[in-house]
Amino acid sequence: MLTTPAARASENGALTAKPSPPAAVASHARIRSLEDYHEAYRKSVEDPDAFWAEVAEPFTWRRKWNKVRGGAFSPEGSSTWFEGAKLNITENCLDRHLAARGNKLAIIWEPNDPKERHLRLTYRELYNEVCKFSNVLHNLGVEKGDRVCLYMPMIPQLAIAVLACARIGAIHSVIFAGFSATAIADRVNDAEAAFVITADGLNRGAKQIPVKRVVDEALEHCPSVRKVLVIEHLGWPVHMHEGRDVWYHEEVKEAGKTCTAEEMDAEDPLFILYTSGSTGKPKGVVHSTAGYMVWADYTFRNVFQVEENDVYWCTADVGWVTGHSYLLYGPLLAGATTLMFEGVPTYPDAGRFWQVCDKHSVTIFYTAPTAIRSLMAAPLDNVLSYSLDSLRVLGSVGEPINEEAWYWYYQHVGKERCPVVDTWWQTETGGIMVSALAGITPSKPAHAGLPLPGVQPVLLTQEGQEIEGNDQEGYLALKAAWPGVIRTTYGDHERARQMYFAPYPGYYFTGDGARRDENGLYRIIGRVDDVINVSGHRFGTAEIENAINQNPHVVESAVVGYPHDVKGQGIYAYVICHQGEGSTEAERNHLEASIIETVVAEIGKIAKPDKIQIVSGLPKTRSGKIMRRILRKVAEGETGNLGDTTTLLDPQVVDEIIAGRK
Ligand code: WT7
Repeated sequence: MLTTPAARASENGALTAKPSPPAAVASHARIRSLEDYHEAYRKSVEDPDAFWAEVAEPFTWRRKWNKVRGGAFSPEGSSTWFEGAKLNITENCLDRHLAARGNKLAIIWEPNDPKERHLRLTYRELYNEVCKFSNVLHNLGVEKGDRVCLYMPMIPQLAIAVLACARIGAIHSVIFAGFSATAIADRVNDAEAAFVITADGLNRGAKQIPVKRVVDEALEHCPSVRKVLVIEHLGWPVHMHEGRDVWYHEEVKEAGKTCTAEEMDAEDPLFILYTSGSTGKPKGVVHSTAGYMVWADYTFRNVFQVEENDVYWCTADVGWVTGHSYLLYGPLLAGATTLMFEGVPTYPDAGRFWQVCDKHSVTIFYTAPTAIRSLMAAPLDNVLSYSLDSLRVLGSVGEPINEEAWYWYYQHVGKERCPVVDTWWQTETGGIMVSALAGITPSKPAHAGLPLPGVQPVLLTQEGQEIEGNDQEGYLALKAAWPGVIRTTYGDHERARQMYFAPYPGYYFTGDGARRDENGLYRIIGRVDDVINVSGHRFGTAEIENAINQNPHVVESAVVGYPHDVKGQGIYAYVICHQGEGSTEAERNHLEASIIETVVAEIGKIAKPDKIQIVSGLPKTRSGKIMRRILRKVAEGETGNLGDTTTLLDPQVVDEIIAGRK
């Protein structure tokens, strides 16, 4: 083990090296040493009110709070932060920086096609664009509290639109532009959104996708939508629905240039973001204004150890929470330069990420293990032909990073000189919870590390007993609220309560299993509920089963995850079709194609099963419960050790399933 690059690096101090001397960037509440970390952590636990009041101090508040923390974190699952305060988050992302950073780059946009021109927006320019966009929304009738759904390519207008919503107090709900029309409709209807923002089309590698057409299809089932604002990106002709659809470039001609930000309450919802849980229907995670702001900023600056001249690149799509907190809000709150990339890691070749790093002198790079693993599979030349000299810090997010991928990243991308921060968090936590602080707290391969100040992780037994001491494994839960905690699930608080706060009263339940090593560093093992993580995207097995069951040939299905070399987890579906169907191989191939088509239509390509096995029955207990444990074992290839199958109604189906394993 000591011969590994990380071990060598930690021997010569590279992993615990002190960062360069403080620069001007938002230096407040910045942790700059291990002692700082321990001191901040201690204070955050012993006197959280004083700790967070101090962290929140330098933001622009129209009015200060009456109370730092409130609500009953558990078991009601309600939590308030900075109650009574008035603010607008965009004044903190934009206006606040104009005096000192007006000419500093806020956004660098790199297009899908490397031959196309990139764009740069200074803080002043971004501010101007957001004001104009806000006025366009106003003119369309968008008011404070309205829900606005965005289904967009990764272009600067997406960032501008999100900020414009926040500026006028509308609640944005970004839907990843890989979801299907049905998935859009579900989300628009759940949020009862009256407004949708989209574009004519998008580029994704060699493909173009007609996003407006997908939105049109979705909106046939969305009676609440009054206006659709369309941004011209590809220059494609699109059908404009009379009285409903308007072009942004037409509307902006009439729009004023300045826009006073709406005054928001600390606890007003800032956004809704849908994510999958263990039940069939995705839920709308609601985040607040003030608490989310403080958490996104604090975690961003400390985890990545951001300095004034950094060029920071998070490769996540704004359609996911990582894009919200660490492509947009975190960096802009900190006054940093954030890079936004329209394309994919493998287009035009597997060197694209590294070409972009060199081109824009990226200093901090944050991506997902699945991207690293897909690039590892390509010839090493794709990375070795770039200098990557500018890089200083590397980050990982979304799923456990295996040691092989960690070392590859550390060695070939970071050249053994950049600390790797493996950041564990969730859509519901708003920001990073457990992670190394780059170069300050310990970084260990495949381990997220120590909790951030304000975060109190515990390991629980299945019965809810806290497991004390190190070198232990259990269910990961969080004690005490932090500013970025989920406030509710949109339109259904009971669901949030049931999901996160009721399972173990007194704690927020994460749904993950974790191990605390001999030094107290956390390693996330994976989900312990019926959620699977495919390429860093979360799906409920029930959600995929519901989609499969829409297929007219299907009687019943059961979905499990299995280890996948690139995706982390793959989707394995066991499907019962109507009697007689699927008896020949040709028929089975046809059924499989048809089932895939259904899942793509119901959820999107990202949820396509990797393996479908047509079966005549599923292993069920006498009470009718599917024994997923057995299905998981078979999918994993562990057919020798299936455990107790005597409680099964029909043990023979297990033999058939093993024989037909994909
Ligand atoms: C789930 C949350 C965090 C934003 C992107 C995904 C898994 C996330 C890590 C990590 C191991 C991780 C967990 C978590 N996860 N980060 N660094 N190491 N697992 O957000 O879609 O809400 O998914 O992703 O299982 O519960 P999400």
